[in-house]
Amino acid sequence: MPKKELILKNEEKIQLNGLSRKDSPKELMVYINSLIEEKTFPNQNRKYTLREQKEWLRQKLIDTKRREYLYIIASKDGKMIASADARRLALKMRGNVEIGIAILPEHRNKGLGRLLMNEIVSRAKTVMKPKNIFLTVDVKNEHAKKLYDEGGFRKIAVLPNWANHYGKYHDQEIRVLAR
Ligand SMILES: CC(C)(COP(=O)(O)OP(=O)(O)OC[C@H]1O[C@@H](n2cnc3c(N)ncnc32)[C@H](O)[C@@H]1OP(=O)(O)O)[C@@H](O)C(=O)NCCC(=O)NCCS
Repeated sequence: MPKKELILKNEEKIQLNGLSRKDSPKELMVYINSLIEEKTFPNQNRKYTLREQKEWLRQKLIDTKRREYLYIIASKDGKMIASADARRLALKMRGNVEIGIAILPEHRNKGLGRLLMNEIVSRAKTVMKPKNIFLTVDVKNEHAKKLYDEGGFRKIAVLPNWANHYGKYHDQEIRVLAR
């Protein structure tokens, strides 16, 4: 994936890179675990170990090579501050690609979410050529829902009691990008 620089509304410069074997599992772990600690990471309730993160990197590098997966690392002054990913489903569903975005709290509300959403959608279209791009979002995550509304992700359905958030089941919306 080609490197890229984004400039936010406040003129901060953010570097975008793809996943590479040079990435540090420790840095990835520190980033993801701080979101888990904040309880905002949508997919996981407990922190990752370094061993799990090393295995994650190994597997995702294989998937990236096969065009089954895309991961964008956003950094500021050499520190990872956000990520966006795209994951292809399997078998008859492989025409469908699911995206996700997560930003460390101090870097939110500056337009980075919108830039990353546009970037992951455009890269997923070019690299993975999907039939559909979709995402799931907690029905209570108003901030993310507003961003996805503006990006053209339309609510298709609500999945009741879909995500186990620290023992409490939350409803999730499925949203598909309008073509
Ligand atoms: C959801 C998330 C990716 C949004 O990223 P962001 O960089 O904060 O969003 P942006 O600054 O690009 O804002 C996009 C739009 O969201 C809306 N928005 C921004 N801040 C908001 C807030 N605090 N409350 C509600 N809406 C808000 C605005 O409409 C904004 O557009 P505007 O700039 O024209 O006003 C980010 O908050 C995040 O990583 N959250 C934790 C993880 C998560 O929930 N990921 C999504 C899971 S599906």
